[in-house]
Amino acid sequence: NPSLSGTLPPQLAGLVHLDLSYNSLTGPIPARIGELRSLQGLDLSYNSFSGPIPSKLGRLAQLQKLDLSSNNLTGGVPATFSGLSSLTFLALSNNGLSGRLPAGLAGLRDLQYLIMENNPMGVPLPPELGGIARLQELRLANSGYSGSIPETFGRLTSLTTLSLQNNNLTGRIPAGLSRLKRMYHLNLSKNGLDGAVPFDGAFLRRLGRNLDLSGNPGLCVDDRAVVKEVGVDVCGGGGSSGASPGGAITRGGALWPSASALLCCCLLL
Ligand SMILES: *[C@@H]1O[C@H](CO)[C@@H](O)[C@H](O)[C@H]1NC(C)=O
Ligand SMILES: *[C@@H]1O[C@H](CO)[C@@H](O)[C@H](O)[C@H]1NC(C)=O
Ligand SMILES: *[C@@H]1O[C@H](CO)[C@@H](O)[C@H](O)[C@H]1NC(C)=O
Repeated sequence: NPSLSGTLPPQLAGLVHLDLSYNSLTGPIPARIGELRSLQGLDLSYNSFSGPIPSKLGRLAQLQKLDLSSNNLTGGVPATFSGLSSLTFLALSNNGLSGRLPAGLAGLRDLQYLIMENNPMGVPLPPELGGIARLQELRLANSGYSGSIPETFGRLTSLTTLSLQNNNLTGRIPAGLSRLKRMYHLNLSKNGLDGAVPFDGAFLRRLGRNLDLSGNPGLCVDDRAVVKEVGVDVCGGGGSSGASPGGAITRGGALWPSASALLCCCLLL
């Protein structure tokens, strides 16, 4: 299998974009890529690079787009990534990365896309991510995150997409998420979230089918008027009218009794 090794030719020094995606490159990512100080785009996705992400990559202060997804990288995200001060797009999905995200990521003022799904992270979600003011897409699905969704995520006013499905998240959904006016895709499915869903009718209508809360058996909605729009039960286990007692109400499922049931009721009356 091919690997990248040896010295980088000096004529690469001024390189602005390096795209080696969709090759079969193996071995470690050469740390010397961190010396290509003019790089604005680095794409090594869809290879078989292994080992840790070189901390030297954090020296690429001009870098706007970094894509290392779909490799076999292990270890953590280097703390030096806080030095990637021009970064707008960071993709690290589909690797073997684990451990805490460096708190310094919160200092990446231009970061708009943080896409890091399918890694065995196994830690709580860092509250610091709520400090990345320009973040539009935060995708951290299927990565063994535990604990609760940080309240600080309610400060991500530019957020349009939040994907946290298939983790081990517990506790309440922070009410602050319901105030994110640009959000149009929210997937919290397949976690252990519980309590009342904090979204009002307007939020639910705006997201429509782009909202997925299914697979959280402890979640419920207080407002009977919105119950048919989300994949969860009414809080307190149903009520006098509308919801079928004890019956799970699924997205798009019927809130009202079927026509024949209604007919029977009328006949009884
Ligand atoms: C990833 O690394 C592990 C451990 O070194 C190895 O067993 C596995 O075959 C590698 N997978 C790929 C796709 O390279
Ligand atoms: C996360 O959830 C999965 C599936 O429910 C479970 O197998 C795993 O043990 C959990 N991990 C942690 C760290 O709680
Ligand atoms: C949410 O994620 C689950 C699990 O990956 C997926 O099946 C579902 O289609 C997603 N829903 C939305 C609305 O994106």
